Amino acid sequence: MKETNSKNQQPKWKPMTAGYCCSSDDRAVFGNFSRCRPSKSDFTKNIGGGGGGGTAPLPSFRKLSFSDVSLSVGSSSARINEDLAQTFGGDLYDFQVSEMRAATQNFSSNFLLGEGGFGRVHKGYVDQSLRPGLKAQPVAVKLLDIEGLQGHREWLAEVIVLGQLRHPNLVKLIGYCCEDEERLLVYEFMPRGSLENHLFKRLSISLPWATRLKIAIGAAKGLAFLHDATKPVIYRDFKTSNILLDSDFNAKLSDFGLAKMGPEGSNTHVTTRVMGTYGYAAPEYVSTGHLTTKSDIYSFGVVLLELLTGRRAVEKSRPKNEQNLVDWTYPYLTRTRRLRCIMDPRLGGQYSVKGAKEMGLLAQKCVSLNPKDRPKIPAIIETLESLQNLRDMAITHGQWPDSANSGRNLGYYGKGRRQSGFGCKSAAVAASPRSK
Ligand SMILES: Nc1ncnc2c1ncn2[C@@H]1O[C@H](COP(=O)(O)OP(=O)(O)OP(=O)(O)O)[C@@H](O)[C@H]1O
Ligand SMILES: [Mg+2]
Repeated sequence: MKETNSKNQQPKWKPMTAGYCCSSDDRAVFGNFSRCRPSKSDFTKNIGGGGGGGTAPLPSFRKLSFSDVSLSVGSSSARINEDLAQTFGGDLYDFQVSEMRAATQNFSSNFLLGEGGFGRVHKGYVDQSLRPGLKAQPVAVKLLDIEGLQGHREWLAEVIVLGQLRHPNLVKLIGYCCEDEERLLVYEFMPRGSLENHLFKRLSISLPWATRLKIAIGAAKGLAFLHDATKPVIYRDFKTSNILLDSDFNAKLSDFGLAKMGPEGSNTHVTTRVMGTYGYAAPEYVSTGHLTTKSDIYSFGVVLLELLTGRRAVEKSRPKNEQNLVDWTYPYLTRTRRLRCIMDPRLGGQYSVKGAKEMGLLAQKCVSLNPKDRPKIPAIIETLESLQNLRDMAITHGQWPDSANSGRNLGYYGKGRRQSGFGCKSAAVAASPRSK
């Protein structure tokens, strides 16, 4: 189980042990979400002893596929390394922990890029002194804080998915480490960090409208690549902290530990334990465990809403009716005059009126309660791309109060905007709630 990554506002997600899987508080908030991890001793039993955990050992030197993620939990790290080397050959580097320690100045806190549910991410440098032919480059080294099988599974899923799938809108995996209980992942370094940091951190400069659109299109193309694979891959963890940005704000998806192969043949869905992030996960998936590519489309819609409003999927510090972004924004998305009431004040009216309206309508379709009403990813890309050349900026089209009161004076748009004569209070009253 994970909650939204509003690290400043909500308690951090913590790994849970088998003995105390979910606190009653967690159960109340997250319903049947689960991301429970057995204790470290269980992990040692299963991973360390080369089959001591009761799972049949894997034959040596086999090519790993997605379905091996569960099987491999009974294997020793030596065997996993052999299998990975056999599967990926020269495509992925098999590093040693000591090498990554040296590359990151002993995992120094000065090089800390961030921390997620599975551990810390440090910046490091690699070059051909480490491996012949290895390009000199900065890297991001993720240290899995492994406390159980789940951590290992997600680590292996990440290696298998990212080791096989290469696309300009997926973050590139350069290598991995698997030594006893240590699990590391080594990625290309993304200089602009995560979309989450740009959208929600107070000190960051506001992302311009055109950049938001570019990021949405890039992320959609990453998702399209996954959904379009011979066997579709369901990403399951689409959210702003997993959208990383290069120096030109090209978006790349990261974190494939929860990814799942989609349904095959006549099956319409795969059934699985509910995992993901509260606020982003599709309601039918949360209630039934039925997972389809349409679950990712729902999460994509939530991210579109975050790009429009500059608000997080869930914000517990807001008044009750504004805490859930999907529910709060729903009645505002159909009309331009209403939409401006929820637009990110940090845009200061510098957004295309038509573009925002189309993006709002698209987001609304993506978060439809009925998965069949959600658009497919190619249609989403087409719509978003068609908005790129619009220049009808709200500020110059009378859709935003004049510059004397505008964006920089956030107080006006923040707490006070409903009473400002901006027409927002009445719009809120007139709005009809999302039908359940
Ligand atoms: N390849 C990378 N390049 C640059 N920064 C990165 C890279 N990968 C991760 N980061 C930074 O590290 C942070 C933590 O990433 P991580 O994926 O571990 O956790 P998260 O996405 O914040 O949370 P969760 O565990 O829910 O996925 C990211 O938000 C990002 O700022
Ligand atoms: Mg992440």
